[in-house]
Amino acid sequence: AKKIQIAIDGPAGAGKSTIAKIVAEELGFTYIDTGAMYRAVTYKAMKENIGLSDEKSLEKMLMNTSIVLKPSPNGQLVFLDGEDVSQQIRSNEVTANVSEVAAHPIIREILVAKQQELAANGGIVMDGRDIGTHVLKDAELKIFMSASVEERAKRRFIDNEKRGIPSSIESLKEEIAKRDKLDSEREASPLIQAEDAIYLDTTHLNIEEAANEILKLANEIM
Ligand code: C5P
Repeated sequence: AKKIQIAIDGPAGAGKSTIAKIVAEELGFTYIDTGAMYRAVTYKAMKENIGLSDEKSLEKMLMNTSIVLKPSPNGQLVFLDGEDVSQQIRSNEVTANVSEVAAHPIIREILVAKQQELAANGGIVMDGRDIGTHVLKDAELKIFMSASVEERAKRRFIDNEKRGIPSSIESLKEEIAKRDKLDSEREASPLIQAEDAIYLDTTHLNIEEAANEILKLANEIM
């Protein structure tokens, strides 16, 4: 089988990471969660009290930062300067601020270069917002995954419960809508469906059905 690149983009809470993980496992590919990188940068900036609108300082910080993604049985672990921050980067505070940090072109440039390096040999499933449009423009399979805001908020709520993070459906709906707006309206590689991406609405699909849909498409071209 060919070691293709699979790009999965879409708004917050559409199920990208859950489904991408399963697809990668089934194919024996590596899964890369690019959102985790933007989250790690945001987490460090907040910890070091760097202004999130201060692009120059963020850039300087990022030059002295190591972000390593390690595959693990329960998904992917994120190491920031050698420390496992997989839990911390999912906090409500990081989630509320990550889109501001991710809007800076310099930050994107640095992280995108890293993502392209990780994907260079193929056999990769990468999820994010700009994978099909910028990071992996030549990916053999591009999926744009979405679901209704209601459904996405419900999923995040259940997800948060499992992680022990307190939240409410109403505030999650607001947070998701706000993040989608920032991610879609920013200047630098906004969230948008690539012309050659296949649209997958997961509102009425369970995890297995959505994963199978992508696996079917992948197997057709592998
Ligand atoms: O996927 P996740 O929800 O963890 O992404 C967190 C944030 O990181 C997004 O809301 C977006 O602002 C940013 N992001 C991005 N480009 C990507 C992946 C994530 O701008 N490829």
